[in-house]
Amino acid sequence: MKSKIEKLKKEKNALIMAHYYQRDEIQEIADFIGDSLALARKAAETDADIIVMCGVHFMGETAKILCPDKKVLVPDMEAGCSLADSCDPEEFRSFIKDHPDYTVVSYVNTSAAVKALTDIVVTSGNARHIIESLPKDEKIIFGPDRNLGGYINSVSDRDMVLWPGACHVHDRFSIEKILDLKKNHPGAKILVHPECRRPLQLIADKVGSTAALLDFATKDDSREYIVVTESGILREMRLKCPEKTFIPAPAEDSECQCNECDYMKLNTLEKVYRCLLEETPEIHVDADIAEKALRPIERMLEMSK
Ligand code: 13P
Ligand code: SF4
Repeated sequence: MKSKIEKLKKEKNALIMAHYYQRDEIQEIADFIGDSLALARKAAETDADIIVMCGVHFMGETAKILCPDKKVLVPDMEAGCSLADSCDPEEFRSFIKDHPDYTVVSYVNTSAAVKALTDIVVTSGNARHIIESLPKDEKIIFGPDRNLGGYINSVSDRDMVLWPGACHVHDRFSIEKILDLKKNHPGAKILVHPECRRPLQLIADKVGSTAALLDFATKDDSREYIVVTESGILREMRLKCPEKTFIPAPAEDSECQCNECDYMKLNTLEKVYRCLLEETPEIHVDADIAEKALRPIERMLEMSK
């Protein structure tokens, strides 16, 4: 399967991009692996004719908005995102209406329709930097992730109005189970994605996007880490730091020792091959929505340089 994908990729001048939460075998065949910010940046600069976005739907949409002339394929159209789904565009529109004079900042984990209502898009990799570059007294609506928004409010001393959305994976990590794990691994540092709840952010040695957590683990001198985000990131952490131990944080309501995003895991090698071969499913974004959503994504890329 891997060699068939390799051959097709070359024939069609396609670029395969994968998020860190993808299955190991997909990360292995990807031309580029990254967090949401890096995937958006790479999409904006590629000269490939076809982009295969191995991630979730909003990542494919973001790539299509940035590259309207390219064919953007996703291995499985059902690979959505519970956080993006927690923000209905019509409800978000009336939330904005209730807050006139507010700047609207949206996390990249949103539909194109929500981005079209937004002034600036952010990712977990640049949200803090972008918010802090806005005037201190600027009134801001932040959506849809209440945990990321709450994190920025506290570390940046802001008072953004938060949309009450959350990710079903990150919102469910249990502080009790993680503190229990820490008792058995007292020297382990705790790495936490900002989509996790506040108590977890407070016990973290590092709060950051997938790329920021990876970077921290690479530069830090500890031997052991408890990783409180989707377990797909462990592959790259173990590759970059083979001498260190990375322990996946347990989920609250599962017997499993790790926590997986079932949307991310819908993509398989077989589906990557099929989508390249048949050039479907393809991402399409309504032209009017795409035009309105482009500006806030470009603003993000400009502001996070
Ligand atoms: P990153 O921006 O850190 O890659 O996170 C994306 C995501 O979906 C986290 O759940
Ligand atoms: Fe969305 Fe959560 Fe999956 Fe990230 S981990 S893609 S926020 S559902």
